[in-house]
Amino acid sequence: MKILLLGGGGREHAFAHKFQESPFCEQLFIAPGNAGTAQCGTNVNLNPNDFPALKTFVLEQDVEMVVVGPEEPLVRGIFDFFGTDDELEHIPVIGPSQKGAQLEGSKAFAKAFMAEQQIPTADYQEFTQDTLSEGLDFLDKTATPIVLKADGLAAGKGVLILTDREEAKKEFRAMLDGKFGEAGARVVIESFLDGIEFSVFVLTDGRDYKILPVAKDYKRIGEGDTGLNTGGMGAVSPVHFVDEKMMEKVEKRVIIPTIKGLQQRDIIYQGFIFIGLISVDGEPFVIEYNCRMGDPETEVVFPRLKNDLTELMVATANGTLHEITIEEDPRAATTIMLVSGGYPEAYTKGKVIHNLENIKNSTVFHAGTKIKNDQVLTNGGRVVAITSFGENFMEALAISKNNAEQIAFDGKYFRSDIGMDLAAL
Ligand code: AMP
Ligand code: GLY
Repeated sequence: MKILLLGGGGREHAFAHKFQESPFCEQLFIAPGNAGTAQCGTNVNLNPNDFPALKTFVLEQDVEMVVVGPEEPLVRGIFDFFGTDDELEHIPVIGPSQKGAQLEGSKAFAKAFMAEQQIPTADYQEFTQDTLSEGLDFLDKTATPIVLKADGLAAGKGVLILTDREEAKKEFRAMLDGKFGEAGARVVIESFLDGIEFSVFVLTDGRDYKILPVAKDYKRIGEGDTGLNTGGMGAVSPVHFVDEKMMEKVEKRVIIPTIKGLQQRDIIYQGFIFIGLISVDGEPFVIEYNCRMGDPETEVVFPRLKNDLTELMVATANGTLHEITIEEDPRAATTIMLVSGGYPEAYTKGKVIHNLENIKNSTVFHAGTKIKNDQVLTNGGRVVAITSFGENFMEALAISKNNAEQIAFDGKYFRSDIGMDLAAL
């Protein structure tokens, strides 16, 4: 099969690595890819949001399936673009329809969907510029900390958690005034949930679903979960406190009603659902849905997934996921992200990355890298993710940490405490 994979981060390198292992993937293109994906297939310099350009490429190269990594092309409707084009409709796109992608593309949509299906989540209200004063009244009554969420996609920056009520009012006004552009034209105010987060990944063909290995992501820049939010500084899988009993609750209260709700609303969904959950005294609540895999969670979930990825994608497109059994590697996987100094604020790119070729016992997934004159250079805030296996996550972490120290570039920073909070549980 000839496959086109969209995206260019660590998640996409993890996808590409797995396609490379598959005997059913004859040729892999990655648009735009990075220096890591170039080792697994052919990078093509196309923007995943430029659908007409993708069409030309897909037809020229006889691509037989498109797998979408990031959310933006999905929220912009790439599934529907292919499905409604005479020349493209026979080519499956792995990812939800534009309506399905609203689970991530609109917080208000996701909250209303959960309310309708009685899926446990924080209580909420939504407001626009027209209901500003009701919103301010509501803030007077909401317990602190207060959670404000811009409705639309805001590059991971649209959620604010504020302990000061006056500050919350100021930010609420600023959001409606365009602080996050169009994404904040509608704002969700919700109650704060106090607990421990984890990520559940579901693959659905629209009828059936399969649950992939569970992971935990570390979003803050600083050790001990301090400082600014990032795209993710590391991840572990499995997550011990998410035991069989917890997964039974998640499946019954969240996954089954989610799949059923999509069907009831006639929403076409053939792809990944990433459910961000929080355990509050052992009870799962949904924090958010994403319409794609997580990054860096994919860098620990896919290495633990023993199934052939092409087979999984084809079964998703054909509606035959019920024939598949998910097989997990019982070992623990940990990934540590090396980032550019300054990230998640301003940072510089183009630093030479040394010692990549000397890394042993870990897989290095490239996130923000590029090749220039045969040298691998930094090309983003998150640079590479170092994934290792161990009998337990402490063992895996020690290997990743050792290799994180070996790799060198100007301004390199990483968190050495990924997964350590779990040791105390
Ligand atoms: P989201 O983009 O909705 O995932 O929110 C980003 C982060 O904000 C989450 O990963 C949580 O750490 C935090 N968060 C979001 N909603 C809540 C909530 N209702 N209670 C506590 N923390 C939250
Ligand atoms: N690691 C969180 C995300 O992919 O959104």
